[in-house]
Amino acid sequence: ELHRIPHPPYRVPLLGDVLGAGVRTPVQDSMRVARRLGPVFRRKGFGKEIVFVWGAEQVAELSDESRFAKHVGLGVANLRPVARDGLFTAYNHEPNWQLAHDVLAPGFSRSAMQGYHPLMLDVARGLMERWDAGEAAGDPVDVPGDMTKLTLETIARTGFGYDFGSFERSRPHPFVTAMVGTLSFAQRRNVVPPPLTPLLLRGATKRNAADTAYLNRTVDEVIARRREGGGGDEGAGAGGTGDLLDRMLETAHPETGERLTSDNIRRQIITFLIAGHETTSGALSFALYYLARNPQILARAREEVDRVWGAAPEPAYEQVAKLRYVRRVLDESLRLWPTAPAFAREAVRDTTLGGEHPMRRGAWALVLGLMLHRDPAAWGQDAEEFDPDRFEPAAVRARPAHVYKPFGTGARACIGRQFALHEATLVLGLLLRRYDLHAEPGYRLRVAERLTLMPEGFTLRLTRRSGPG
Ligand code: HEM
Repeated sequence: ELHRIPHPPYRVPLLGDVLGAGVRTPVQDSMRVARRLGPVFRRKGFGKEIVFVWGAEQVAELSDESRFAKHVGLGVANLRPVARDGLFTAYNHEPNWQLAHDVLAPGFSRSAMQGYHPLMLDVARGLMERWDAGEAAGDPVDVPGDMTKLTLETIARTGFGYDFGSFERSRPHPFVTAMVGTLSFAQRRNVVPPPLTPLLLRGATKRNAADTAYLNRTVDEVIARRREGGGGDEGAGAGGTGDLLDRMLETAHPETGERLTSDNIRRQIITFLIAGHETTSGALSFALYYLARNPQILARAREEVDRVWGAAPEPAYEQVAKLRYVRRVLDESLRLWPTAPAFAREAVRDTTLGGEHPMRRGAWALVLGLMLHRDPAAWGQDAEEFDPDRFEPAAVRARPAHVYKPFGTGARACIGRQFALHEATLVLGLLLRRYDLHAEPGYRLRVAERLTLMPEGFTLRLTRRSGPG
């Protein structure tokens, strides 16, 4: 069934393939292959044959929930030892998926978001205090590093009333180091042939066990704090007023009355602490990269912030959604660099993809969002250019459906989408209002992969703006 799908010439894998650059950046490597081979292609990774799909028409089919569903494979499957049947890594048939989804969905409603807003502001304030102090010293800021501190604090405090104290640390919190360790390990397991794993990944396997143990200990600490009576935050996350942890610990399913087990709660906390910050951090970092490089776009975004927020010292919840252009900057950043760059879909019954590729029930393909978002057929000949106006309502209406999937698709799409967009729009608004951004003139974008995408080595010098903010 695979024989019609083009693939690169196969050869005996060299050790260079195992240790080389392609292994560190498998997704970007696939982009090059995609451009050569077209909208459906396959690549062999050490005995595993992976079908990649990125053509707009084929992705629209894979998005049809009557024929396809999420597939837990590759990097997602490799995270199972850590997150097991947590929302992100659960198999579709595992009962805890529906249970946790129903119990936690209200934690992402509009009213829940309104409750998180003051805490999100508070975390952003913490970052800006740090940056203001650094400005005096003229230090450039490590953008992905600081965005990761910000988004980790945000999900930890809004979701769990837990404070990692990230801004008071010069190094990342050990939770982040352990998390990056498990993510990188999950990615490397995709590209190292299983027979060579004991040889090549022995040290890494050991470190991964230590990392996993650390993540588990952190989570137990988060629960213990709550049981002792809160983590000390005010607002939505104030130990026991309906944040995510409260829902996990206290809420029964509205229809069945079932509750999450304590082991499943551990999995959900790890899931949310990871899924809830890593990709948002990348999205903010890429957006800042494009803003710093495009002074006219930055000026338009800032003009909007000044107009919509006016003289208010801090924006109210409603004033964030009104930043339409800032939001388009984010949308466009997630188009060019969807920080979760691929997701997998499996056939729920025997079917034929694109009228020519038969797929048996259970057969699966990887949707390469990174390339879908650059398909000239959907996005035009200038698809590689950064242009937020692509997300003006008229332009969006003129495009076919299913050509923009940074948050996945269907029942298993991202539950945290509104959370991420509110947080990131708020933070961009605050930073545009307060600072001028000066990029390192010689910086060329390098994108690091650890399942997610992140601009590597990207720094900015920030100076306080004269004027509002
Ligand atoms: C699922 C992307 C932010 C929690 C997903 C999926 C994608 C995605 C592509 C689907 C994965 C698949 O099909 O295998 C993103 C991006 C984000 C972001 C790009 C930021 C810009 C968040 C936030 C949270 C979150 C802030 C939590 C607060 C989750 C969870 C799932 C998920 C729990 C699994 C949902 C399920 O299967 O029921 N995300 N996400 N994400 N995301 Fe996000």
